[in-house]
Amino acid sequence: MANRQRMIAGNWKMYKTRQQAQVFIKELTQTLASANIELAKDGAAQAVLCAPFTALFGLSEALKPLSVGVGAQNMHQANEGAYTGEVSAEMLLDLGCEYVILGHSERRAYFAETDDAVAAKTVVALQKGLVPIVCVGETLEERENDKTSAVIRTQLGAVLQALQDESVQQAVASGAWVIAYEPVWAIGTGKSSSADDAQQVIGLIRSLITETFGQSVGQAVRILYGGSVKPENIATYLAQQDIDGALVGGASLQAASYTALLEQSAR
Ligand code: 13P
Repeated sequence: MANRQRMIAGNWKMYKTRQQAQVFIKELTQTLASANIELAKDGAAQAVLCAPFTALFGLSEALKPLSVGVGAQNMHQANEGAYTGEVSAEMLLDLGCEYVILGHSERRAYFAETDDAVAAKTVVALQKGLVPIVCVGETLEERENDKTSAVIRTQLGAVLQALQDESVQQAVASGAWVIAYEPVWAIGTGKSSSADDAQQVIGLIRSLITETFGQSVGQAVRILYGGSVKPENIATYLAQQDIDGALVGGASLQAASYTALLEQSAR
């Protein structure tokens, strides 16, 4: 069985000024030390924090001593141009970002982000050397109407098709991309998916990746669960064979709870 490094990615959403981020880092330094967690060590989970654009400046330097990677929560697919209010992959790299969340359900729902746009952004992220964390997931209504697999197939299908582009074959084969399954009804509601249900959908995601790119890519790509993940419930997800970690909103905002998630994710 593949031995994928676990990943605990925090999505700060529209929380934390630069000053609040600095306070968080100070606290994280202490909580990691008291929990005796060294993230650079073998067996530790890969820690990533995806901050608002405005908090990114200086963040990767500040988090480097802790071996925590930095990501953004969105980007535009063009290299540059007249796209008021948007930020490019190059700009994120310039700020030390290594990761970028793409297609979060809040972007899809409130900012009309389409499957095609998410797919295009994923290709550009890989071309530029960013690790995309691509989000997919169904709404409550879709789940109640037994549409979960169909929604996943559509959302992921657009991305997998785009990833067949010649320009990203090496990056795709290296497995340096991440999918996050986040059922919309579980986000910020305290109503997390059961671990069995999450495994079922994530197993489907892995099989679709395997169908498209073969066994070795299918086994290399990390797939996260997201939606009301807390220190109290993360172990049940990590016990599932295809779940490689979590994309965490609320519980990533406090150093103590983020540390507790990392503590439980060490192998
Ligand atoms: P919560 O962990 O707050 O439910 O948020 C999940 C999420 O949307 C992470 O991207």
